[in-house]
Amino acid sequence: MDSNVQKRRENKKSLRVKVISLGNAEVGKSCIIKRYCEKRFVPKYLATIGIDYGVTKVQVRDREIKVNIFDMAGHPFFYEVRNEFYKDSQGVVLVYDVGLRESFDALDSWLGEMKQEMGSMVNMESIVFVVCANKVDLTKRRVVDEGVGRLWAESRGFHYFETSAQSGEGISEMFQAFFSSITDMCENGGKRPVAEVSVGFTKEQADTIRRIRNSKDSWDMLGVKPGATREEVNKAYRKLAVLLHPDKCVAPGSEDAFKAVVNARTSLLKNIK
Ligand code: GTP
Ligand code: MG
Repeated sequence: MDSNVQKRRENKKSLRVKVISLGNAEVGKSCIIKRYCEKRFVPKYLATIGIDYGVTKVQVRDREIKVNIFDMAGHPFFYEVRNEFYKDSQGVVLVYDVGLRESFDALDSWLGEMKQEMGSMVNMESIVFVVCANKVDLTKRRVVDEGVGRLWAESRGFHYFETSAQSGEGISEMFQAFFSSITDMCENGGKRPVAEVSVGFTKEQADTIRRIRNSKDSWDMLGVKPGATREEVNKAYRKLAVLLHPDKCVAPGSEDAFKAVVNARTSLLKNIK
């Protein structure tokens, strides 16, 4: 065969990608990678110092993918070291510990740090994200439910997997979906395939459901100030009802959120003259 033709075929088949891991310290980023690459689990905590780098080869369909993995340290102390490694990433593994709510709440600030370091020109549609709800083996200490985590991830067009680096649950499925999506993206001219980001509900709906779940009282739930008038309560209610009505909203948790909003309005109107 003509050597140029052969070279072109080989180029199409082999691909080189860069992925990073993000999330608070001690959530299990390094253990997830170790479980996948070395098929083992280390119970003792060895904090990543700045960054760990590794290479692995995976097969996706007819392509061989060479994956460069940059495993970031989650501790704020290492910001100055890890900040250089964000650029040119095609995939991000975002990890939280299902037993630590603050590690879930921190996902937004991890995305924030990433955007800041990659610069305003970064196109988030050219990056594949997978969210790992990790340590699901520790069922008794779990505080972040699957619905909450899945909603956060899927409303942003991110994959969501329940994982345990300890038992291995979800790890190979997660990486398989992750690498396969990155390959699809590369074959799609560097854009995340559309089907993957279309989940049937909007980010506004997902964020509103989350806000309702976390609201401290009925005023807060409707998004009005304590002491608001009947008109203000009704106006806020109508807006939320349109957004969350179960006939129109398929986001997980929308039915409960809608019911909660109806109850909040009823109880507020009872006490307003
Ligand atoms: P930094 O490098 O400091 O950012 O932390 P990390 O996110 O890389 O955490 P690491 O993987 O080092 O794990 C932290 C601790 O959690 C270790 O003691 C692990 O053994 C433990 N761990 C990680 N994953 C799991 C899991 O799925 N289940 C359980 N039970 N423990 C886990
Ligand atoms: Mg680590």
